[in-house]
Amino acid sequence: MRSLVPWPGVAAALILVGCGAASDRALPVELGASRCGNVAERPWCDARLDPAERTRLLLAAMTLSQKIDLMAGDHFLGVATSDPATGTVNGIPELGIPPLYMSDGPAGTREGISTAFPAPIALGASFNPELAYDMGKVIGREVRLKGNDLVHGPTVDIMRTGLAGRTFETYGEDPYLATRLGVRWIDGAQSEHVIGNVKHYLLNNQEGQVGAPPLLSLIGGRHLISAMVDERTLREIYLPPFEAAVKEAGVGSVMCAYNLINLQPACSHRHLLQGVLRDEWGFDGFVVSDYLLAVKDTVMSINNGNEIEMPVGFFYQPAEIQLAVATGLVSEATIDVRVGNILRTLFRFGFFDRADFPSDDGLIDYPAGDLAARRVAEEGMVLLKNNGVLPLNSATRSIAIIGKPATTYHNVGGSAAVTPWRYTSAVDAITARAGSNVTVTYDDGSQPARAAARAAAADVALVFVGDNAKEGTDKTCLALDCPPFWMGPLLSSPQKNLIEAVVSANPHTVVLLELGGPILTPWRDRLAGLLTTWYGGQATGSAVALVLFGDTDPGGRLPVTFPDAESQTPTAGNFLQYPGQLVAQYSEGVFIGYRWYDHQGIAPAYPFGFGLSYTTFAASDLTLNLVDGRVRATWQITNTGTRAGSTVGQVYLGKPMPEPGVEQPPSALQGFKKIDVPAGAAQTVSVDLDDAAFAYWSESQNGWRVADGCYAIRVGFSSRDLPLTAAVVRSDSGWRIDNACASSSLASRAVASDAGFFTEPPVPPISGKQG
Ligand code: BGC
Repeated sequence: MRSLVPWPGVAAALILVGCGAASDRALPVELGASRCGNVAERPWCDARLDPAERTRLLLAAMTLSQKIDLMAGDHFLGVATSDPATGTVNGIPELGIPPLYMSDGPAGTREGISTAFPAPIALGASFNPELAYDMGKVIGREVRLKGNDLVHGPTVDIMRTGLAGRTFETYGEDPYLATRLGVRWIDGAQSEHVIGNVKHYLLNNQEGQVGAPPLLSLIGGRHLISAMVDERTLREIYLPPFEAAVKEAGVGSVMCAYNLINLQPACSHRHLLQGVLRDEWGFDGFVVSDYLLAVKDTVMSINNGNEIEMPVGFFYQPAEIQLAVATGLVSEATIDVRVGNILRTLFRFGFFDRADFPSDDGLIDYPAGDLAARRVAEEGMVLLKNNGVLPLNSATRSIAIIGKPATTYHNVGGSAAVTPWRYTSAVDAITARAGSNVTVTYDDGSQPARAAARAAAADVALVFVGDNAKEGTDKTCLALDCPPFWMGPLLSSPQKNLIEAVVSANPHTVVLLELGGPILTPWRDRLAGLLTTWYGGQATGSAVALVLFGDTDPGGRLPVTFPDAESQTPTAGNFLQYPGQLVAQYSEGVFIGYRWYDHQGIAPAYPFGFGLSYTTFAASDLTLNLVDGRVRATWQITNTGTRAGSTVGQVYLGKPMPEPGVEQPPSALQGFKKIDVPAGAAQTVSVDLDDAAFAYWSESQNGWRVADGCYAIRVGFSSRDLPLTAAVVRSDSGWRIDNACASSSLASRAVASDAGFFTEPPVPPISGKQG
């Protein structure tokens, strides 16, 4: 999607405040000459041979201890110092095996000065896979230009609870959305010749309540918690982004998680690592453990599928592996499989057949990165409320900007932290964009009365507030002001008080939320406008200015549900579900995110998929076609307003109950299209639904099945705004379009789940266009 910058002065003003205007110049990848060695002495160095043959030749030349050397990282402190990289596996020069350098991460390179993208949840809000490609590509390029071979990203864990400390690192609560974005992020990163490392496999859905009483801090924590989950939930909710990363993007590596799943550590989980990942999906890359004690033993981890322990070998120390082999607990053939997976992937990515990637920041096109970061920030911004105060226009003569986030770069803690190349604050960008005829004042908001006085003196007040989520610890509540446990009970609500003081002084108050995930918004009714910027990265200020003044239509749609009350959330009120004690029961099953709210009939504050534009859109003329075994939904989106704008057409599927007792979410996202539409114009949009979209995981048959029955296909602009409905019926004789069945199926869902719902009479298949 492009910015809608209608006149050159805007662009000029933003260049002045440093939003970056350089074109996204593609740097040629200079791969250089092979560093493997002489083919006559080292036949595996012959690049004409295929990776499997080269691997066979190299393994045959290696001693057991050389093989074992490749199975663990070698630099403990790299994760803290990035020296020589976040993670390093030393090479074996006598065999022509170079060192393998790994870098974080999903929001930018965590080494030196980098392009600091918005938190990945903003990419989730963009609903734009092509932007994911661009983000992955810029990060992949910087990872490479800092001398690395592998990038620890993307994070495709699904948000189960908004309390999870790393919610900001995810693409939100929906597996389909995370899948589409994750695949293109990996495509982008791997197009730069670095190996993608998709993470965290699997169910790293909480960090733990650090400092919580009694015992919770450790045993609800990510290193020890065991997610207790059924197979259907794994397959339908948590596995799809990883499956697509393997099958569609050909990701080179997978990071196994700290936590346990059904009492088995993720890094030695035979079912997930061998059964699902390799046997079913055909993954032929390598598994890298998460850092520091994700690997919990030697023998099972090696036998069940983890190739490399990071950052160093605790359980993969040479002596331990040698002992395991000597005692027959691990066979040498298994070591060959593990090391073979590493080598074959390195051959596949051309790792042996090029020079070292130079580590030279001078080669990085930082202005291009800045522009890419700004585009993600713009397209991820979600306008939740607007009573007409936005976009700001020439009638606005004075603006009061309030709150520290308007001047301060928000760097997330942990492995997604990035040191930005430059930072454009909202105050600077808004001041530049407003121009000399508009008075802009700033107050840090530390004294609500003073801030209110400033607000009262201005036409419009912009209040910047936010939360502070981090890796390593969960949030204790979803309120805006939510102190960690060690601060004791909540005594004050400084940001809430600030909002209330300002809105009392000036009704034209817009609140800007710098967030890592969903929060509660009990003050929203009093506001004139509400805009979620997420943790917006280095170019957040420029993006905020563009959106506030309407140079860019707010491009984001919520990738997470904003609840109305904490008690509404899927895991609320049940300690066994979250945070758990050693085990966390995923008893909500597939009903997470909007699936939960829909199933329970709960009205959230703001639903998944929701976001306003500065114009209005209508959807019409939904038709279904059966095309090559797929169902194609086609409809019209009309811009019914007077400005150009962007929107996200969304397709949700309501499935019949396939087996007694197997309840289905009322609707689940199965397609979306983000489009720009000029004022008054209409665009035709279509989305194809294949068997995978219609399938459910049958526990009784241990496989994917498409049930007979009526499938409601609902189209619109959010999970709660689906004005168009059509339907297809599946039976022994194939598919038939039958819109009438949708109303009865939706009605039956609304009252209760009904086993009769899937007993549609058999019908002949119909092809061609149907109404
Ligand atoms: C995180 C990973 C990260 C690694 C290296 C771990 O704590 O969970 O996501 O890649 O550190 O920084």
